[in-house]
Amino acid sequence: MKAEIDAQALSASRRLIAAAGNIMVLTGAGVSAESGVPTFRDAMTGLWSRFNPEELAQEDAYRRQPALVWEWYQHRRALVAATHPNPAHVALASLSAQKPLTLVTQNVDGLHQRAGSRDVIELHGNLFADKWLDGCGRCDPAAAVPGVPPRCSACGAMMRPGVVWFGEALPRVARYRAEHAAETADLCLVVGTSGLVYPAAGLPGIAKDHGAHVIVVNPEPSALDQTADIVLRGPAGVVLPMLWDGTQAASA
Ligand code: OAD
Repeated sequence: MKAEIDAQALSASRRLIAAAGNIMVLTGAGVSAESGVPTFRDAMTGLWSRFNPEELAQEDAYRRQPALVWEWYQHRRALVAATHPNPAHVALASLSAQKPLTLVTQNVDGLHQRAGSRDVIELHGNLFADKWLDGCGRCDPAAAVPGVPPRCSACGAMMRPGVVWFGEALPRVARYRAEHAAETADLCLVVGTSGLVYPAAGLPGIAKDHGAHVIVVNPEPSALDQTADIVLRGPAGVVLPMLWDGTQAASA
């Protein structure tokens, strides 16, 4: 996808990034689009096409049909594991090596980490992390009883995917750290999110209220354009490498 990026907006963004002392980045599904990561709804193909993702990604669905939901997450893990970081992920990892930067993501695909970003704040959890549903506190994945899903050998609790399900609260520490990053940043870079899902979508506004400049990168209009000082209308994998030098070749 060729990006016709406004040259003035691009040079203004480069200047803001070069001058920034403390950057907060918020990413959404769009930063992984060029990796071909199936969106929430893309995974509904073949056997899964007759299900509605919203109905599977919630706790009561899991309690009702644990094997079905567990298999669906295994299917999504396999789809995501077959993808790779794209130049947007790599560029963000390279910037974090040059500047104080806090990367907050709504994505659960783990691609920022595979591109080399460290200490990524995952507001919606991670597709490859597991936890327990009603665990006893001593549940040990290493001693889990194999099954679909695996269960705790001590209390029989079901293992569950470590993602935030609809209706669930965000991980408290991740949310606190993301809000602190927004309050203390002097530049907020928003990449690949429609800006429709709160509290994540509220972070750029918090940064702006605390004096930060806001740059949005998105090929389409988003709900956060009105918060932005600069909107760069193009795909992240093309735009981000244009914003600072030193983006290394792709990693894992
Ligand atoms: P969306 O699917 O709502 O929005 C993706 C955004 O990426 C859109 O604004 C696209 O225009 C943009 N986009 C597409 N291709 C792009 C590219 N190559 N470069 C840059 N941007 C591109 O995804 P999110 O905003 O991440 O929540 O959705 C937020 C949350 O809604 C998800 O984390 C999920 C969902 O409910 C949970 O799972 C809790």
